[in-house]
Amino acid sequence: SGGDATKGETVFKKCKACHTAEQGGKNKVGPNLFGVVGRKAGTVADFKYSKGMQALDLTWDTGLIATYVENPTTFLRDQTGDAKAKSKMTFKLKDEQDRKDVAAYLATFK
Ligand code: HEM
Repeated sequence: SGGDATKGETVFKKCKACHTAEQGGKNKVGPNLFGVVGRKAGTVADFKYSKGMQALDLTWDTGLIATYVENPTTFLRDQTGDAKAKSKMTFKLKDEQDRKDVAAYLATFK
């Protein structure tokens, strides 16, 4: 909550190097994000996730995505309890409002 999807579209330009969001979009360095809000983490077919990501047992909502993109490795460690988990996503989005906005934008792809 508290995210502006229109502003998030601009933020998502930073994600596009590695992600598509449209239905049927290809996996790039990162998995396709169509329908990611409401989807179980780490479940795009044909994408090879990190072990930590495969061990995650959660369904993405906008709040979890906003937390994840602040620091994906910290998120995996906190969620799995594995202090050595390491995300394959090295990108971090520092600004809290940008994180909420990009999560709201992703919620429109369903
Ligand atoms: C995974 C969002 C930027 C590479 C993910 C996932 C989300 C996400 C929600 C989990 C997907 C799932 O469970 O299927 C975002 C957003 C970004 C962003 C919102 C911009 C703010 C990037 C960038 C890169 C990247 C720039 C590449 C440099 C990856 C990779 C994974 C991933 C490799 C898989 C992680 C793993 O297996 O540990 N991303 N991402 N992402 N993303 Fe991103």
